[in-house]
Amino acid sequence: MDKKEVIRMLNEDFVRELEASMIYVRNSFIMEECDASRVTEAISVDEMRHMWWLADLITKRGGKPTMEHKELDFGGEDLKSMLERQIALETEGIGIYELQVEIIDDEEVIGVLKHIIDEEKRHRKEFRMRLE
Ligand SMILES: [Fe+2]
Ligand SMILES: [Fe+2]
Repeated sequence: MDKKEVIRMLNEDFVRELEASMIYVRNSFIMEECDASRVTEAISVDEMRHMWWLADLITKRGGKPTMEHKELDFGGEDLKSMLERQIALETEGIGIYELQVEIIDDEEVIGVLKHIIDEEKRHRKEFRMRLE
């Protein structure tokens, strides 16, 4: 796989992390339930950290991080619907990262993506616990 293709994939990841961090920041303000709100806020910071890790991989390979995100989908206005949306975002991310780990042949990138996968699984678990 050529470097440009790796950069393209990392940029898709970067934008997904950007969207997740913005959605979580916003939802953490809307949620009235204190524990769910605090957890969502803390996880938004993790997603921003993922942006930094990905941006580092992108720039080291000669690319530039792109900020062109889609229209944001926050889920509905109630806690359940926001948590369901957040769980769906984590699941989507995990699926894409796992696929990328299979097809990208760059050890440094794979190491970072595996670390992110572990964290996204933990996030999903945290959100699922609040949904119950
Ligand atoms: Fe993330
Ligand atoms: Fe996450």
